[in-house]
Amino acid sequence: MKRTLGVCYYPEHWEEADWATDAARMVEAGLSWVRIGEFAWSRLEPRAGDLQFDWLDRAIEVLGSAGLKVILGTPTATPPRWMLKKHPDMLALDEQRRTRGFGSRRHYCFSHQGYRSESRRVTELFAERYGANPHVAAWQTDNEYGCHDTTLSYSDAALKGFRDWLAQTYQSIDALNRAWANVFWSMEYSNFDEIDLPVLTVTDPNPAHLMDFRRYSSAQVVAFNADQARILRSHSDAPVIHNFMGRVTEFDHFEIGEDLDIASWDSYPLGFLEDRMEDDAAHKAAYAQQGDPDFQAFHHDLYRAVGHGRWWIMEQQPGPVNWAPVNPAPLPGMSRLWAWEAFAHGAETVCFFRWRQAPFAQEQMHAGLLRTDSADAPALREVRQVAEELSHAKEQASTDSSVALIFDYPSNWAWDVQPQGKGFSYFRLVFEVYRGLRKLGLDVDVVSSNSDVSDYALILAPGQFSASDSQIDAMIESGAVCLFGPRFNSKTPEFSIPDPLPPNIKGLPCKVTHVESFRADMPRPVKGGGSVTHWMEHVETSASVSFELDDGTPLLVSKGRSHYLTGWLDELALARVLKDLCARADVSVVDMPEGVRQRHLGDLKFVFNYSRDAREFDGQNIPPAGVHWSKI
Ligand code: GAL
Repeated sequence: MKRTLGVCYYPEHWEEADWATDAARMVEAGLSWVRIGEFAWSRLEPRAGDLQFDWLDRAIEVLGSAGLKVILGTPTATPPRWMLKKHPDMLALDEQRRTRGFGSRRHYCFSHQGYRSESRRVTELFAERYGANPHVAAWQTDNEYGCHDTTLSYSDAALKGFRDWLAQTYQSIDALNRAWANVFWSMEYSNFDEIDLPVLTVTDPNPAHLMDFRRYSSAQVVAFNADQARILRSHSDAPVIHNFMGRVTEFDHFEIGEDLDIASWDSYPLGFLEDRMEDDAAHKAAYAQQGDPDFQAFHHDLYRAVGHGRWWIMEQQPGPVNWAPVNPAPLPGMSRLWAWEAFAHGAETVCFFRWRQAPFAQEQMHAGLLRTDSADAPALREVRQVAEELSHAKEQASTDSSVALIFDYPSNWAWDVQPQGKGFSYFRLVFEVYRGLRKLGLDVDVVSSNSDVSDYALILAPGQFSASDSQIDAMIESGAVCLFGPRFNSKTPEFSIPDPLPPNIKGLPCKVTHVESFRADMPRPVKGGGSVTHWMEHVETSASVSFELDDGTPLLVSKGRSHYLTGWLDELALARVLKDLCARADVSVVDMPEGVRQRHLGDLKFVFNYSRDAREFDGQNIPPAGVHWSKI
């Protein structure tokens, strides 16, 4: 597989006379792909039915004949203003049931059937017109589903859709009342039309009601994407891609992945560090211009699974962004490091966002590869360097990892619905385990709860709210060392406490009798070093106890190759437990220096230095923001 670079471009923002020069400069910089079209609807159909695609025909021709391959985005993330006249009720409503209005983007509700048919219509127009165009070599559906909190909507369309979905799912209102246990607080319904959206209740709605609304909402995104993918495929052989995001968990990305040829994601390491991570101020200061050393890698490994092995970066931060609480410039070298890190994790293509900084509108302070005056911006030099390095690189097969970490979107919804303690975030729990594994130098596959796990030596499933018997059997039968918990299988799919008590792992005699969450400033010390934070479970067990708290409370319960972890571990305790499990699994580990990470690909080992200082590793001195690779 040849690894390539690309860029996001908006021909509708620039004079037509400049397209050819831009295209020639892209090619000269070593870029192969250009993504266009995803926000251009108002110029393609300025009035309902008034189609003006000629300029896009010409833009594709200019870019394509310069030697670029076009990724064409369907424009459904930005419906034009006239669409609202046609469908006044297509807008999403927030939790207070206030309308989320026109004037930016993503102003639509996934449940609105009228907009769903507009989405199919415009996709059909794109697919028919460009499906056989030799320059259109890939498709992007919509843009960043869920961005700006747009998965959940409390509109009338969502209410109707939710009621229909419940009726189909439960078939009878008695079945729903039983499943949700609506006898509690006299919440029983006598028909589906009495059920409201789970907002604006006096106190908490029933968690089962909330959980079903989350499932319903996820299913709408999946259906929206599936329509576009089907239409594009009926006219084109080019791969269908969607650009996912960092730490967006409101819909099941694995389900969308079933309808894609390639998964991609939009990586903004500095914005994400400030905006999406709970780490303390010291950590954020240390990595302010490099990004968190594990956040990008986690998503690379996650989206590799979502895309069944095929994945890209569709948007890579090229300089300061405009949307985080603060927007520093990356350290020199980071654009190159991020690109190589993606390739080391198996990316086929890395595209940068965007070609030229726009001097106007919402993103005028967002860097591009060119400045607003069209001079090279700093990242362009690094892009050229990566292009040059890629031209000498030989193709590498991806490497099999021996460690699998399960990420399960419904578990994220479940613990949003019922955190049982401020700060209990499923994403954070799983991410901290990932970080712990990466600090031990391990390559990790992030996988779904129903991925094939038969070939791993170590499988970890922290925080998964509900698990099927077949998943648990597959994990055990794989022969791998398995880590379950905390909170593993602690609810039925209907959101009740199971009988018998969790975790119900065959062959592991261990019962969670009660749980506690506690203040961040009251950690519980672990015997031998480290502590438990946030969350602790108390168990009855006849299995052996491999780790315990100072007061003797069991922390890691072990029988054969199955282990149950009862608490949320801090960094030190986590490192101790992970090393113990790796030793049992015969997986060798190495303590990585602060801010340094490694990743194997084919016969190469890559080392990335995210720190601000040079680091010694493996006999190499790696400068800050440096990348080093060598033959294994
Ligand atoms: C992404 C989005 C782009 C652009 C970029 C700015 O989330 O897909 O259109 O807005 O952020 O960082």
